[in-house]
Amino acid sequence: MKKKIIRIKKLKSKRKLVCLTAYSKPLAKILDKHCDIILVGDSIATAFYGMKNTWSLSLETIINHAKAVRAGIKKSTFVVDMPFNTYKNIFVAKKNVKKVFKLTKCDAIKIESNGRNFKIISRLVKLGYPVMGHIGFTPQYKNKFKPEGINKIQENKLINEAKKIENSGAFSIVLECINARTAKKITNEIKIPTIGIGSSKDCDGQILVTDDLIGLSGFYPRFVKKYINLNNIMNKVFKKFRYEVINNKFPKKINTY
Ligand code: KIV
Repeated sequence: MKKKIIRIKKLKSKRKLVCLTAYSKPLAKILDKHCDIILVGDSIATAFYGMKNTWSLSLETIINHAKAVRAGIKKSTFVVDMPFNTYKNIFVAKKNVKKVFKLTKCDAIKIESNGRNFKIISRLVKLGYPVMGHIGFTPQYKNKFKPEGINKIQENKLINEAKKIENSGAFSIVLECINARTAKKITNEIKIPTIGIGSSKDCDGQILVTDDLIGLSGFYPRFVKKYINLNNIMNKVFKKFRYEVINNKFPKKINTY
């Protein structure tokens, strides 16, 4: 197994994992100083392209952004999300995953669980492709946002799913919008790191969509902490630019040849 993947697995018992999404080189360059994992998530469909959901995102689009992100990363573990339908059976998965690794030079791919694709994960891992799992609220397979793992039946189902993904050879699992008690149980019952998003501080690490945390996406569910409101700041900047252009205050001599 590759060094970077082993390092992520080992951090489970040492300290929390810091993970964020990036869709461009300039952002990846900044995040690389602060993150253990940088993910080109299929959230790019909604957060960047303004699509209604992630379902129609193409493999080519995510590959193009992943190539840009790769160029900004020196040290972080680099994970690329497989879009909906690009891993629907083992033949399709093999072909597409091979293409993603070849073109993006990523360290791993992420696959959302539909509760049945454990064999696909297992085959990909055996072929030497590191896989990150994803359970709970999985936007590729669920229409309506709803926290998961609230009652005992859901809790057992999720624990079972996490164990199956671990046994398939995944090196970590994203837990999305899973009830705190259930997320804690999963984290305690599996040996690979859990990366939470809306799933409590008891996960082994945390991930957020960067555009949400900097206040750019317009999507702010309660699990997102807006660390800065770039939307407001950028509005002020562009308002000033407009004022200066209209009033002949920009460009000045110093901006002129
Ligand atoms: O697509 C994405 O950005 C993700 C994260 C929210 C985990 O899957």
